[in-house]
Amino acid sequence: MSETDEAIHELLVDSAQLSPGGRVADLGCGRGPTLAAFARRLPSARLIGFDVSTADVEAARTLLADHPGGAELRVTDLSGPLPLADDSVDAVVSYNVLECLADPAALLREVARVLRPGGRAVVAHVDFDSLMVAGAPRELDRRVCHAFTDDQQPWMAHADGRIGRKLPGLLGASPLVVEGVVPLVTTSTVLEGHAARRIGHIREAVSGAAATGRGPVSAQEVADWDAGVRLAAAEGRFFFAETAVTVIARAVA
Ligand SMILES: C[S@@+](CC[C@H](N)C(=O)[O-])C[C@H]1O[C@@H](n2cnc3c(N)ncnc32)[C@H](O)[C@@H]1O
Repeated sequence: MSETDEAIHELLVDSAQLSPGGRVADLGCGRGPTLAAFARRLPSARLIGFDVSTADVEAARTLLADHPGGAELRVTDLSGPLPLADDSVDAVVSYNVLECLADPAALLREVARVLRPGGRAVVAHVDFDSLMVAGAPRELDRRVCHAFTDDQQPWMAHADGRIGRKLPGLLGASPLVVEGVVPLVTTSTVLEGHAARRIGHIREAVSGAAATGRGPVSAQEVADWDAGVRLAAAEGRFFFAETAVTVIARAVA
C-alpha cells in the first residue's frame, strides 16, 4: 500500500461530500496524499493545498500536475490568515497538522470564514497516545511511545501529540457545527506499509531527540526498542495499531 492509498485519505474524501467541480482546500497538504485521493475520485475537483514546507509543496505540485480540475499549491504558514476569500471554498480538509499549531482555534475560525455556508470541514488527527506496538518489553515500549507522543520534532513550531482526543472539543467550540466524529483504527500484524513507516518515524524522532539531549529516552534504549519490534515481526508476534479521530463539521448556512 502506498502512502496515498491509506484509508484515512479515502475517509477524508468521503466525508467532505464535494460535488464534481467543487473547490477543496487541504490545510497542511504535505506531499499531497489527500489531494491525490480527491483527484482519483473527482477529476473535475478544483484542488488547493497549503503547507509551510517548500519541499512538500513542490512534491505535491509534481504529484498533482496532471489533475484535470487544476491544483493550486502554495507555501503558506497556517498560523496566519488563510489566503482565501470569504465563502470561497466548498470543503476544507486537514490531516495530522493541527498538533503543529500553537493556536488551532484561530485556524478553525479561518476555516469557518473561507467555507461557503453549508460547506464541510473534515479535520482528522492521529492521537499518538493511542499507539499500540507489540514488540519491546512493556516499560521500554511505554517510555519510547510516550516520548514520541510528547516530542516536539525540529520541523514543528509546536507539538501536541494528544490532539486527536481534543479535536471534537476544539471543533465544538469553533464557529462550525459538528456533524459527526469518526474513529479510524489502523492495524497491522506485519512490519510493512503504514506500520513500518510509523515505527520508522518513532525511531527517528526519539533517537533524534536523544542525540540533541531533548528527550527522556537514550539512543541505546531506542535501539533496544527497535530491535524488540523487529524480533517480534520476525517471530510473528508483531502487532501495530493507532487511532485517528476525524471530526466532520459544516459552516453555518
Ligand atoms: C504529518 S504531516 C501531514 C501532511 C499531510 N496532511 C499528509 O496527510 O501527509 C504535517 C504537515 O503539516 C505541515 N505544517 C506544520 N506546521 C505548519 C504550519 N504552521 N503551516 C503550514 N503547514 C504546516 C508540515 O510541513 C507537514 O507537511
